[in-house]
Amino acid sequence: MSTSRKQVILGAYLGGVNHHTAWWHPRAGSQIDFGTFEHTARTAERGRFDFFFLAEGLALRERAGEIFDQDIIGRPDTFTVLASLAAVTEHLGLAGTINATFNEPYELARRFASLDHLSGGRAAWNVVTSFDAFTGQNFRRGGFLDPADRYVRAEETLNAVRTLWDSWADGDLVADRESGRFLARADAGAFAVRGSQFDISGRFTVPRSPQGRPVILQAGVSPQGRDFAAANADAIFSPYGKLPEAVKFYRDIKSRAVAAGRAPGDIKILPSASFVLGDTEAEAVEKSREISREQVTGQTALILLEQIWNRDLSGYDPDGPVPDIDPDPDAPPIIQGRAFVHQDRFATAARLREVAAAKRLSLREVVIDQFERGPLVGTPAQVAAQIDAFVQQDGSDGFILGSHLVPWGLDEFVDRVVPLLQERGALRADYTGNTLRDNLGLPGVRSGAAVATDV
Ligand SMILES: Cc1cc2nc3c(=O)[nH]c(=O)nc-3n(C[C@H](O)[C@H](O)[C@H](O)COP(=O)(O)O)c2cc1C
Repeated sequence: MSTSRKQVILGAYLGGVNHHTAWWHPRAGSQIDFGTFEHTARTAERGRFDFFFLAEGLALRERAGEIFDQDIIGRPDTFTVLASLAAVTEHLGLAGTINATFNEPYELARRFASLDHLSGGRAAWNVVTSFDAFTGQNFRRGGFLDPADRYVRAEETLNAVRTLWDSWADGDLVADRESGRFLARADAGAFAVRGSQFDISGRFTVPRSPQGRPVILQAGVSPQGRDFAAANADAIFSPYGKLPEAVKFYRDIKSRAVAAGRAPGDIKILPSASFVLGDTEAEAVEKSREISREQVTGQTALILLEQIWNRDLSGYDPDGPVPDIDPDPDAPPIIQGRAFVHQDRFATAARLREVAAAKRLSLREVVIDQFERGPLVGTPAQVAAQIDAFVQQDGSDGFILGSHLVPWGLDEFVDRVVPLLQERGALRADYTGNTLRDNLGLPGVRSGAAVATDV
């Protein structure tokens, strides 16, 4: 195996409530039963994936004031699921999407440090900020943050969380065999954080965890989101799973990271992607078409476009052309609680019209064409080659993979594609590190307070 060859990082995505997951499929599991999470995580570990990944939704989605009837509704709490998975897996990282806008640093630090302890160094936090006051209504502080301030809060939250994690050093808790008691350094856990968002001080309850600092992921593509990630994240959950935009994003983030004083390899770019396998290429392409048509019904296509247009488009024919009216960004939001925000509604609408015209696609077809995640379609050998090539040409450092069929869809990937990636030398045959940080090839973390005072 060549040493310069990039290893492919793999995460297993269990998204939950979006239209990518076919919860209505006769073989689909429940979105809440432990068995769904357990099977996906065990399968990912069998395939030597780096981590299992949970998205998060903090409000039920609404369209024009009514709950969506498209998607499945409701999901359990991320920490509870990940903690239970720690007990049934050994090496797999456990990554949770948790909002920095509505949670307090002390709670966040405590929960992730605890997960890191319980899992033996496998915890990861996907820091998201949310963007809407609608989601905020569920929380004590409500939608109190202007979008422009979300990353100010996220940065201060993450710094505070790191201060809390670092308030204990590795050797701070010592077992005293004579007395049979644990003794802590006198100032163990002491912290004080003051900034524009927080004024907190005290002692942190959780001794230093195996990773010291759990792995940090980020998802969000605005300029502020990119700078926040470039300065702080170990990896990005990216929506760019297609070339050439993926390479553009990759270069942009790596150069922002360098500008922030980091090495390009300190931050990994991991697009979200789905896969469809067939015994022949033609079979895989046909299967992929069928799955897309099932995922994006006419009604789903309209809802996805309403998110961009911010208008009621229910009068449009999904099999007709893309609407020729302009988006209405200033109207009250028609769709509430969806995670992904389009930065420029007019540009997106114009692009959809252009693609539809150039490829002669209907409204529904252009939504399928443009909204699909990474197009990993083909025979197992083709998909292994596509993944490897994408990573080697710096489209990404790996993928966060989700299957439309939860929890069984990942089995096929692990049985048929993983061995081929291993044969190519692109994926480890076995876990090599003790922690998620090790397995991801990330730089180590200094050992908290005691070491920090030495430097
Ligand atoms: C690929 C991707 C996945 C995301 N997943 C979630 C999620 O699971 N839960 C959530 O609350 N927000 C999620 N977000 C939303 C981000 O947290 C963020 O609120 C939003 O993208 C706006 O940030 P931005 O302005 O930097 O793009 C995701 C964003 C992206 C790009």
